[in-house]
Amino acid sequence: MAVNTLWDPVNLGRLALPHRLAMSPMTRSRARSDGTPGPLAAAYYAQRASLGLLISEGTQPCADGQGYLNTPGIYTDAHVQGWRQVADAVHARGGHLYIQLMHVGRMSHPDNTPHGRQAVSSSAIHPSAQMYTAAGMKDIPTPRALTLAEIATTVDDHRRAARKAIEAGADGVEIHGANGYLIQQFLAENANHRDDAYGGTIENRARFALEVAAAVADEIGADRTGIRLSPGSRLGGIDEGAQGDELYRYLVGELAQRALAYLHIAHHGNEALLKAIRAAWPTTLLVNRGNRPLELIAQDIETGLADVAPVGRWALANPDLVRRLREGLPLNAPDSSTFYGGGAMGYIDYPPLMPA
Ligand SMILES: Cc1cc2nc3c(=O)[nH]c(=O)nc-3n(C[C@H](O)[C@H](O)[C@H](O)COP(=O)(O)O)c2cc1C
Repeated sequence: MAVNTLWDPVNLGRLALPHRLAMSPMTRSRARSDGTPGPLAAAYYAQRASLGLLISEGTQPCADGQGYLNTPGIYTDAHVQGWRQVADAVHARGGHLYIQLMHVGRMSHPDNTPHGRQAVSSSAIHPSAQMYTAAGMKDIPTPRALTLAEIATTVDDHRRAARKAIEAGADGVEIHGANGYLIQQFLAENANHRDDAYGGTIENRARFALEVAAAVADEIGADRTGIRLSPGSRLGGIDEGAQGDELYRYLVGELAQRALAYLHIAHHGNEALLKAIRAAWPTTLLVNRGNRPLELIAQDIETGLADVAPVGRWALANPDLVRRLREGLPLNAPDSSTFYGGGAMGYIDYPPLMPA
């Protein structure tokens, strides 16, 4: 079998990517107050176009889906116009854009949302966490459980947001099923105490994720639909319990039947499960292990454990990351004090290296 390297091309859905790196989704909290991407967003993403596939910051598919301050949305015409500028700028530089659909569920504070309403989740269980608001850190209040009718509406919100992402010129969408947000709040035993068709058994807890994936894939094409999962993540108070492996084997097995553009794993160390997912997954597999030296990222590609390696903070701090890594050049260090909010500083002013 031929061995692939980090620098070999790869197909992902409808896209032909030039190499195996990609930009991991990163919230930057710089959208306008109505959720339209801010004036600098197009420049930020375009600067990073050589990464090939750029997965956008988490973007709410509806007002209830927002949790953090100044995250962008993709559910109004203004949002579409804002994202169109981003997509056009990325395409002009030869890159590709997937918009990440992030419904945060209970990981929300009403002060950060446009309607100021109580957050929604699978069950009325708070995540025991605090959140940054315009008035500083506040306790996250208890959410209310979605009704069955509201679950159907929320699935539909994802479908319509996916359509709007395509209208804006995005190449596809990534469904955020990771990191403790709404989809994982349905998956996890300790966050989902429902006794209807969406709670209890593994099949029931996976139902919402599968319905969202089906709705998005039916709307825009499976080959423009990706999904991110984070088996074993404890972010946002999540605990998937003793059945965690079984849950993901079932979920990935069901998703595998849809021939999605890709599955994106935010890996938390369960190597046996990752190997099982690789074996079960028929299309492109993205694996982000976080904080990993380049040699080990390359090894995942060479051994076939992953097809693409999304990187987060390196990409945030190095607009010309691909060149730097290919040529073994030094990297800018990311400045965490400017990750979220603010303007150009720490956003579009990380310097590229001068041409050799
Ligand atoms: C500032 C920042 C914002 C992030 N926002 C998101 C997000 O919106 N959606 C998501 O799935 N992951 C998000 N992540 C996680 C990253 O995609 C990635 O998994 C993580 O940073 C580990 O990869 P790295 O070591 O290459 O940065 C964020 C990470 C950072 C540093």
